[in-house]
Formats: sequence, C-alpha cells, structure tokens
Amino acid sequence: MAEHQDLRHAHIVGWGKAVPERVVTNDDLAAMVDTTDEWIRQRTGIIERRIAGDQETTLTLSLEAARRALDAANMDPARLDLVIVATVTPDHAFPATACLVQDALGAEHAAAFDLSAGCSGFIYGLSLAAGLLAGGGYERALVIGAETLSRITDWTDRSTCVLFGDGAGAVVLQAGATPGGVLASVLGADGSGGEVLILPAGGSAHPATAETVAARQHFIRMQGQQVFRFATRIMPEAARQVLLKAGRTVEDVVLFVPHQANDRILQAAAKGLGVPEERMFSNLAHYGNTSSASIPIALCEAIEQGLVQRDDLICCVGFGAGLTWAAAAIQWSLPLPVAVPARPHQAWRWLRYRVARLRSLWRRLWRLVDARLFNIRYDENGRRKYKR
Ligand code: UT7
Repeated sequence: MAEHQDLRHAHIVGWGKAVPERVVTNDDLAAMVDTTDEWIRQRTGIIERRIAGDQETTLTLSLEAARRALDAANMDPARLDLVIVATVTPDHAFPATACLVQDALGAEHAAAFDLSAGCSGFIYGLSLAAGLLAGGGYERALVIGAETLSRITDWTDRSTCVLFGDGAGAVVLQAGATPGGVLASVLGADGSGGEVLILPAGGSAHPATAETVAARQHFIRMQGQQVFRFATRIMPEAARQVLLKAGRTVEDVVLFVPHQANDRILQAAAKGLGVPEERMFSNLAHYGNTSSASIPIALCEAIEQGLVQRDDLICCVGFGAGLTWAAAAIQWSLPLPVAVPARPHQAWRWLRYRVARLRSLWRRLWRLVDARLFNIRYDENGRRKYKR
C-alpha cells in the first residue's frame, strides 16, 4: 500500500498547437501535378493542408505550440526540467531543435533533445518523458511534435506531395501523486522496413552532393501500399496491447486519437478494434499528414471540440518511418475547459520570453568577447590560463 502511495504519475496539464496560415487545397496541387481533388479525397480523405511560409520552420512552429501549451498549463518556462522535440524535419541536423526551443523559451533548467521515430515520434517522446517523471528525477516536461515536411516533399511527385502538411503540437507534463495521466505506453520498431519510407540522402550514408540533389534524393520516398498494409495491421494491435498493459479494454476508451495519415487507415483501425468510426478522431481533411505533429494537433482539436472530459480514457496510436509504432493510454485528469490564465500571468510569461531573448543575445556576445579578448589556454589540470 505504501508502495502505491509513493507512485508518481505523469499528467498532461497543458497543450497547444500551431499551424501555418497558408492553406494549400487539392485544386492547388492539381495545378502542379497530375492529380485531382476527387482522387485525393477518395483515396486519402485530405481536402487541404497547411504549408509553412518562408520564415516558418520546425522551430518557429514548435515555439508557438509550446507557448500555447505553457499558457494552458499556466506554467513558467523556467520550471521545465525537460524539452523533447519529436521531428524528422529539425531546423538543423544539429544542434537539436529542442535546444533552440529551450533557449527561446528561457527554460534555463531544462535538458533538451530531439527524437526521430517518424510519425510515432510524439508518443515515443510522451512515453519517455512520462517514464522520467514517474522515476522521480524530473517534475515537468514539454513534449513537442513538429514538422515542416513541405521542405522535404518532392513537389513533382504526385504519389507523396498530396499527402503531407506542416504543423506542431505540444503538451506539458507534470508529475503528481494523483493516479491517472499517462497510464501505459507501448513502443515498437521494425527496421527491416526502413527503406519503405525514407529520406535517401543527406545523412552519413549519402552526404549531400550535386549528384544526390540532381537525383532528388533529399525528398521523401515512400512505398505507399507497403506502409498502408503495415498501418492497418499495427494500429489495432498496438492499441490493444497498450490497453491491456493499462488494465483497460477497448470499450473503456472514450476517444482514440490516432496518427492522421489516411482516412481509410483510420476506418480500417476502427474496424479492427470493433469501435464506431466516430470514436476514431480525424482532422486529416484540413491538415493532411503532419507526421510527429499529427497526434498532438489532433489531441488539441479534440479538446477544443469538447470531446475529452475529466477522467476520460483516451488512446493515442501511431505508426511511421522506421518502421515504428507506438500507443499510449491516457486518463485525462484535468477539468475542461481550462480557465484562461490571468493577465498578470500571461504578461509574466511574455516578459520571460523577452528576457530569454536578451539572455541568449548576451550569452552569444559574451562567448564572442571571451574568445576574442582572451587568448585562452588550459593547463595540464584543465584549468583556464588567460593570456592577453
Ligand atoms: O505517416 C506514414 C506515412 N504514410 C502513409 O501512411 C501512407 C500510407 N499509404 C497510403 O495512404 C496510400 O497507399 C496512398 C494514399 C499513398 C496511395 O493510395 P493507394 O490507394 O495505395 O494508391 P496506389 O499507390 O495503389 O495507386 C493507385 C493509382 C496508381 O495508378 P495506376 O498504376 O493504377 O494507373 C497511381 O499512379 O493511383 C495513381 N496515383 C495517383 N493518381 C492521382 C498515385 N497518386 C496519385 C495522385 N493522383 N496523387
């Protein structure tokens, strides 16, 4: 009994999404490649998607979603212990986009790293963060799923360019003694399917060269039907596994929040689980497939639409490049809707973001001064020897 009282649980206390303003419709794409609105709607369920503007990146979308999540949680960013960004389109191979988020938010005490697990990335991040919070070493974590897939989409390839979109979603997790929150998660991988969904060049196997660029190897390559078959098998399987692990059943689930890739995959998953399609949340029509961002964006929209209430059991389930799959059973622990944070709190966070920017500028400046003004050497004990 005492053991149970000591258990810590990871609760979602904040959530936020960000999507670019620019809407690209199926008809817009039909003007670019040999496709039709009818084909895209019938085969995928997608009507439109959001595409990042020139100034938008995975970082800017992550930041916007993160600030909204912190607002919903009414939390000072300096209290975060951990920032995870799940993405396959980071701003740079390194540094991690999560570090740039950490700096811009002023999350001074947070560890930060990116996570690459394809479209399952957000649940991988959620599971990792929940485990660290439950373990006792961390109190508060920010988990973001964010993508600018438009930057790695081949806009001449009709078999992929109609599918993808840009966006970001974020949640704030907080450790607590009250049972609930992230009850269980299931993560899986099958690397033998790596080439089924791949960005062929740009890594150490095929660094960028004029040839790789000319061969269009810096764009997504996908064997759609293979992924489709994998997805329809793995979605119900992973969802059932996680519910079993959480000691719950499919019937207990109020809402499934699945990865948004294709409405036909969602229908097949609903059928495989024996649940009505209404319990399988879909916003695919308006955003397309946003990879790591799709589940947190869908979660935010389900909350906005009043489909999630306190104590409801929700099940997030996804699959993606790797191949990977992941599912999480979450017992919603907050009363909804949440009150808008008081103005002084909002003003405080606004101020913190400005201070974070100044702090970042100051640190960059200091690094410059430090290196330029002093000819720094180290002695044999690793101590700095300043020499003018
Ligand atoms: O997040 C994980 C990432 N990806 C996925 O989850 C994707 C999973 N796969 C899918 O959603 C589906 O396989 C697609 C939507 C990608 C494709 O749908 P499909 O029903 O499997 O189509 P298909 O690849 O079998 O192609 C059928 C036909 C082909 O023409 P032929 O050979 O039958 O003459 C394609 O060339 O449709 C053609 N086609 C198109 N036609 C018009 C393929 N793309 C298009 C297009 N517009 N955009």
